Order: sequence, then structure tokens, then C-alpha cells
Amino acid sequence: MSKKSGANAYENASGESAAIDRAEHLAAAEGALLRADDLTAGYIPEVNILNHCDFHVNEGELVGIIGPNGAGKSTLLKAIFGLVTVREGDITLRGQSLRGKKANQLVDMGVGFVPQTENVFPTLTVEENMQMGLFLRPKKFSERWDYVVDLFPRLSDRRKQRAGSLSGGERQMVAMARALMMEPSVLLLDEPSAGLSPVLQDEVFILTKRINRTGVSVIMVEQNARRCLQICDRGYVLDQGRNAYTGAGSDLMNDPHVISLYLGTLAKA
Ligand SMILES: Nc1ncnc2c1ncn2[C@@H]1O[C@H](COP(=O)(O)OP(=O)(O)OP(=O)(O)O)[C@@H](O)[C@H]1O
Ligand SMILES: [Mg+2]
Repeated sequence: MSKKSGANAYENASGESAAIDRAEHLAAAEGALLRADDLTAGYIPEVNILNHCDFHVNEGELVGIIGPNGAGKSTLLKAIFGLVTVREGDITLRGQSLRGKKANQLVDMGVGFVPQTENVFPTLTVEENMQMGLFLRPKKFSERWDYVVDLFPRLSDRRKQRAGSLSGGERQMVAMARALMMEPSVLLLDEPSAGLSPVLQDEVFILTKRINRTGVSVIMVEQNARRCLQICDRGYVLDQGRNAYTGAGSDLMNDPHVISLYLGTLAKA
């Protein structure tokens, strides 16, 4: 596991730990499916939310992103999906830059995004939501419907029901299934367990793992940090728009600094 040394890990005066961290990222991200390098991004001119972030996900990996409220976790996913202005650095998928690409191009290239909120079309039925997910390749509908119903059998019973009338857990399944319709290589999930009962939260984590096992690489942002680190291969801790810690999920979970700073009650668990 590696730790960034303080607020300006890539900009400190000595440059020593900066060089080590940067080198570690560059070595580890070699051949990654999707990577962000030295990413600086923000919404409002001259206000950077992400500051020199590094990130990568390998083919087949499940990577978790945790950190306090306002750390920039959603912003990182939105930057990957072209929804935030990237000021410095680059984001690449299989070596191809994603900067400046529109949402439909990103979906076509294999990026699926499930936002934190408002992630279904509430007035459309479950089936229509799936059709929206596949608007670029409508002929694949029945094949992809079978795939998502295999993952989420409950959607089959709810096929003709409006998404807005479903329970929170079912809506989250619709949102994930919609993003999966286009057969993404990498799925970005922003807090999929938020607002769900403990039992349904558990179900979302199990489903996420199952999706990953079907060969989809997953980047998962989660408030439920402990559960997230339990299921992910690697994790990143973001703090104030910067990389704070990164490493194997199990290493992060057991690191006393990560526990005391970011996992709260985990220390007593
Ligand atoms: N659309 C926006 N316009 C301006 N600032 C924004 C916007 N969205 C988020 N921010 C700011 O960016 C910072 C990071 O927000 P972000 O949503 O990425 O955090 P987060 O880590 O996902 O937090 P949470 O755990 O609460 O979801 C915050 O200071 C937030 O106020
Ligand atoms: Mg967020």
C-alpha cells in the first residue's frame, strides 16, 4: 500500500516522495484498461476540485473509491464520463484519450455510468429504461435483456412497471441494468448502496461483485467504505481532491491510519 505524503504529494519542495508516488502509479497503471493521470478538474473557473489525481483500473478489476463527503469521489467519476471540465492531465481507455468525448461516444467506447442520483427515467417502464440504455444498438435488445435479467431476476417481474414506482433497491437495479445494456468494458458506480436498507445494501454489493465476475471492470464509489473495501481488489482513498492512500482493499481495511482517519467505527468493529 502506498500513501501520498500530505496535501501536495506531487508538488512538494523536495520532490522525493512525489517522485516515488508518481513512479508507483506509472508502473502500476502500465497496460491498465482505464487510467487517469495527474488529473486536475473542476466545475467553476479557477476552482479545482480534483488536484493531480492518479487512478487506474485493470481489465477485470473491481476498484473502490472511498473518502469523506466532498472529497471529489463523484467528481472523479464525472470527469471520466466527460461531465466535468478537465484542466490538466488525461484520462485514457485502452490508450485512447477520453477528453472531449461526448456521453454517447463514451458509452459506445465501452464506458457505463450510473450516477449517484436521478439514475433512472421514472416515468418510463423498466423495459423502456433498458431500451434507453441500448439506444445505440437496439437490435441487441433481447440478448442484453436476457443478460441483465439473469443478474437481476426481479426486473423480469417488473418489466412493464414504471421505474418511478419501484422500491429504492429495485430502482438501483434498473439503473445498473440500464448501464449494462450496452455491454460496457468498465462500469462506473456512484454510491450504489446509498439510501438502501442494510439488507438491500448487501444485495447491491453482492450484485456488484457478480457483475464484475462476468468480466466487467468496475469502479465503485462508496460511503459504505468497509463493505466496499471488502469486495474490491484495490481501493483508493481520496481526500480534498487528492490521492491519500491506495492499495489492496484488504490492506487499506486493516491500515490503522486509514481506519482512524476514514473508516470511523471500523476501528471498533
Ligand atoms: N455541480 C457542481 N458545481 C460546483 N461545485 C460542485 C458541483 N458538484 C460538486 N461540487 C463540489 O465539488 C466538491 C466535491 O464534490 P463531490 O460531489 O465530488 O464529492 P464526493 O466525494 O462525491 O462527496 P459525497 O460523499 O458527499 O458524495 C464539493 O466541494 C462540492 O461542493
Ligand atoms: Mg458523491
